[in-house]
Amino acid sequence: MAKKIIITIDGWSSCGKSTLAKQLATALGYVYIDSGAMYRAITLYFIRKNTDWSNPAEVKEALEEIVLHFECNPASGKSEIFLNAENVEYLIRDLVVAEKVSDVATIAAVRDFAVAQQRSMGLQKGIVMDGRDIGTTVFPHAELKIFMTADITIRVERRFKEMYVKNPNVTLAEVKANLESRDYIDSHREVSPLRQAEDAILLDNSNLSIEEQLDFALKLVAKKL
Ligand code: DC
Repeated sequence: MAKKIIITIDGWSSCGKSTLAKQLATALGYVYIDSGAMYRAITLYFIRKNTDWSNPAEVKEALEEIVLHFECNPASGKSEIFLNAENVEYLIRDLVVAEKVSDVATIAAVRDFAVAQQRSMGLQKGIVMDGRDIGTTVFPHAELKIFMTADITIRVERRFKEMYVKNPNVTLAEVKANLESRDYIDSHREVSPLRQAEDAILLDNSNLSIEEQLDFALKLVAKKL
């Protein structure tokens, strides 16, 4: 049987991590896990339940009520996240969630909850997981670690285009402010801040097409196999 590895993709918000992770998983027949979707789904739950996430007892209680799982949507072939058996894949992409998720992701109890599940998903290997701390904390021994970056103007344009389809009232300024604020909080938090693992390979895709970035990553995979 072909050797299976763990591939981690970390990096700044909206630099194309999930696009590359999905491409790689499809090309290799691996499972793709979007770890950010887990933090977003937890945030959605807290917002809906009016959880005061500055109160550890309320956070603990809320986490005990949350069950997350991923299921493959046969129509798109993509895995989607379920929060207590409800498909929330589209709801969690809303700006309302995006504005709170980085704060929620600073909470140690939330991270412990998510990281434990992420690690169990990697037990069989053959997985591509994207996020902020996957190569540093979740799978520090992963065989291949990629750290992605791209020019902020390009990232804002990419995310704006995605959000505009769903909400034509969204502005470039709002999207830019959200990305900058998330990047700041994600890279300055105490627990598992966003940073490039020492053994991660840097991929700046500011001037790469999605075919070129896949080609770059597949060559890295070939070296590891
Ligand atoms: O990848 P994303 O934009 O969907 O992630 C949403 C937020 O979740 C991001 O701003 C920070 C947090 N996150 C995290 O702290 N650790 C991860 N492994 C993935 C996401």
